[in-house]
Amino acid sequence: MKSGVAAFLAAVILCAANSALGIRFPANLSGNRNVRSDRSLKIALFAMGNFWRSEAVFGCLDGVQRTSVGYAGGSATDPEYRKLRDHAECVQIVYDPQIITFHQLLDAFWSNHDSTQVFGQGPDVGNEYSRSIIFTNSTVESRLATASKEFQQSRSKDRVVTTQIQRLGAFYPAEPHHQKFELRRNPFYLLLLGNMSDEELVTSSLAAKLNGYAADLCPLRTQRKIDAKIEAIRRKGWPLLTDI
Ligand SMILES: *[C@@H]1O[C@H](CO)[C@@H](O)[C@H](O)[C@H]1NC(C)=O
Ligand SMILES: *[C@@H]1O[C@H](CO)[C@@H](O)[C@H](O)[C@H]1NC(C)=O
Ligand SMILES: *[C@@H]1O[C@H](CO)[C@@H](O)[C@H](O)[C@H]1NC(C)=O
Repeated sequence: MKSGVAAFLAAVILCAANSALGIRFPANLSGNRNVRSDRSLKIALFAMGNFWRSEAVFGCLDGVQRTSVGYAGGSATDPEYRKLRDHAECVQIVYDPQIITFHQLLDAFWSNHDSTQVFGQGPDVGNEYSRSIIFTNSTVESRLATASKEFQQSRSKDRVVTTQIQRLGAFYPAEPHHQKFELRRNPFYLLLLGNMSDEELVTSSLAAKLNGYAADLCPLRTQRKIDAKIEAIRRKGWPLLTDI
């Protein structure tokens, strides 16, 4: 975490500046936001344990346009956070394949959770909160997923890679307060984005990036770039982040 206390103080100072200097906090910035065509974008879906963290892992990667969390992998029709039934917590990623490949998303998937189990521990694979699943939507994706799993297994001799590879099925979006969870728990970062609605927090690529930043999960280069932007915003006293 960035220092929560410092961020809180900064927010208090900014709010004080707001009333003292008449700085205006726009309520709605939609006009400014990413309006890139969706035609060439692709969707990936992974389960890798807690979906708050999963969303933060992918949000900051170059080429990732949007992220959201939800439930998939099962057959029940009404999964909820406290009642997953046979589903798993998942992150859905909308990405530009010209900038980031499915293969690179798989790398991020494997390096950001523990997909293994000590051999002999028993078939606890079904633990709904720690399931590891790669969803695929084509034979190419399926082949890449299988090859990456074999590679992971070859590197972990005494452990079993429990990751399942499943055909993409229904995805049930999670309740709004689970979307961009890391961002939501930092009021200052929410302030930086103006007054985004629940819906905008799901569709904004800026919110996806800042969500990763809030969890300290951006690549170092991106983390530093955002640090600098936020610092500049603080100096100027105009508390709005419009691009990263
Ligand atoms: C933010 O927008 C909502 C409507 O989406 C409104 O109800 C709320 O008062 C706004 N808050 C601020 C601080 O502008
Ligand atoms: C899965 O693939 C089909 C056929 O290529 C495509 O129409 C569909 O949009 C894809 N689904 C997702 C979620 O990407
Ligand atoms: C923000 O503005 C857009 C159009 O400019 C509108 O469609 C949207 O409903 C507004 N959002 C809020 C929360 O007011």
